Amino acid sequence: MCGVVGYTGTKQAAPWLLDGLQTLEYRGYDSAGIQVVSPSGNLHGVKCAGRVAALRERAASANPVGTCGIGHTRWATHGAPTDKNAHPHLDGTGRIAVVHNGIIENFQELKRELMAAGHEFRSDTDTEVIPHLIQEAFNGPAKGDLALAVRNAADRLEGSWALGVICADCPGTLVVTRNGSPLVVATTEDGAYAASDVMPLASVTSHVVQLNDYDVATLTADGTIVIRDRDWRVVESPGSFDIDWDASAAKMGGYSDFMAKEISEQPEAIERLLAGRLGKHGIELDELKLTREELAAVDKIVIIACGTSYHVGLVAKAAIERWAKVPVEVEYASEFNYNEDYLVTDHTMCLVITQSGETADTLAAARRMRGMGCNVFAITNVLGSTAAREADGALYIQAGPEVAVASTKAYTAQMIASYLFALRLALANGNMTPEEVEKHYHDFEAVPDLMREVLSRRWQDKQAARRFRDKVSSLFLGRNVSATTAYEGALKLKEISYLHAEAYPSGEMKHGPISLIESGFPVVAVVPADHVHDKTVSNIQECLARGAVVVAVATDGDERVAKMCQEVLWIPPCPDQLLVPAVSVIHLQLLARYVARDRGYDVDKPRNLAKSVTVE
Ligand code: F6R
Repeated sequence: MCGVVGYTGTKQAAPWLLDGLQTLEYRGYDSAGIQVVSPSGNLHGVKCAGRVAALRERAASANPVGTCGIGHTRWATHGAPTDKNAHPHLDGTGRIAVVHNGIIENFQELKRELMAAGHEFRSDTDTEVIPHLIQEAFNGPAKGDLALAVRNAADRLEGSWALGVICADCPGTLVVTRNGSPLVVATTEDGAYAASDVMPLASVTSHVVQLNDYDVATLTADGTIVIRDRDWRVVESPGSFDIDWDASAAKMGGYSDFMAKEISEQPEAIERLLAGRLGKHGIELDELKLTREELAAVDKIVIIACGTSYHVGLVAKAAIERWAKVPVEVEYASEFNYNEDYLVTDHTMCLVITQSGETADTLAAARRMRGMGCNVFAITNVLGSTAAREADGALYIQAGPEVAVASTKAYTAQMIASYLFALRLALANGNMTPEEVEKHYHDFEAVPDLMREVLSRRWQDKQAARRFRDKVSSLFLGRNVSATTAYEGALKLKEISYLHAEAYPSGEMKHGPISLIESGFPVVAVVPADHVHDKTVSNIQECLARGAVVVAVATDGDERVAKMCQEVLWIPPCPDQLLVPAVSVIHLQLLARYVARDRGYDVDKPRNLAKSVTVE
């Protein structure tokens, strides 16, 4: 979704703003813009629909001069992705410029009010009311104090926002504030920086400061940052954290795209996650912040997530129920939020799974669970993310920055993280002995090499991808945990290759989707060697009998599947059936990537999608 950057200091602002926006491209956007203010108080902006590359070209000829500025990548919500709707937006006097991430829910009534007072609007956005409100406050009650004017304006807003504001009357001052949308700031020798996530800041610092909702931060050119809370008290010790990865981790490093890099990074991600987790008394999971007795009392778990993370939740359910014998419900956050009749027990625990830690629906659901009295434990990839900060405990999967919009390494790392949680719970509630836990842990340790083996077979995916080149639709099938792999594979394929993919538990196929199958129709069947193998084989037969082209994901040595199916994506045998999803999914990630590339698409930045979905 939208990205925000801001800088004030001794350097020209435009080059870093443009670089910063480039690192935010991964969030998904459809227009971009920057605005700078010169020391003598001239505002100069450039904006356009399309990519940051186009903005760079415009900036090169416009040459905006100024050492303080703001930048934005916009993911359209209100108003089409056009030059006019791109941020920054100005007030009527053209002296105040604003970038905004989020949605202003009451913009229509504010706009009516402002128009009645004589303000003229130039865009279709919800954002444009903000500079006008700031101008009213700046020239009125705030008496030329930009930070106060921003606060007064923010007090009128309903919805979510991360704002960056500059003003021709205060050159060198950058004011930022947030509510519900992420925002971090940093101070360095050459000035102060702000951004909607740490990615742009990683090139200039390793230490960032977090803002809480309604905090207003004033950044000045000498690098000073003054943060005031909602009661306008100066925040003396704001939350902060170190970026635990090198800026090079967010670079492509020789790969042709981030998705390829991130798929390949999965073995190392799992190794990092597992390192040091087996202690004398079983799984070390201090992040849980619950005593053994409190954990043992948990009698129901609700997993909250969206998209790919929701698919992790489905596999986590299988592991928790099998190992810890605690019933689990997996809820789409967006659905859970509007289910008024949701029932919890006195000892229900909530597991929130979110790579970004900023997904609006997931955050709202987690808050609701806390409101219902549940302990909330977050599994996330982003240090200092809102989900982690608001949860009672948080486990960082340490997968490193995930830049490609389609989630891959976070999927498998979150899965293994949820397994660690399942073992910890099983030990606490007596459903596993320490020896059994240790055995499972050693099984997990086999996963990185199994993944490496699949990665070395990527030619199989490349070959199978040709089966999809000219197709418009496809079906993904699997049973039990492999049904989840099918869901995830279908999601990957549709999001980056724009080829319709529907996923079903194999046995359900007969109850509707089978009517789709005709000669040449592609079916992906996840059919590893497990207790439901033969059942899925029968479903494959049903597809073949109707002319389908079947691409199977099968375990080495499965002659039956090899003879039946047109393509086989082979996986090595896994020590536990519950580990198969973490290994087999790699084939489907690779397959989706090859299909998308064959069809000529940018696999890292699929259309309409955003990396971090910060609006409901
Ligand atoms: C798909 C994908 C999305 C996310 C979903 C939740 O590849 O990445 O489906 O999984 O938007 O995001 P997080 O995990 O950040 O809450």
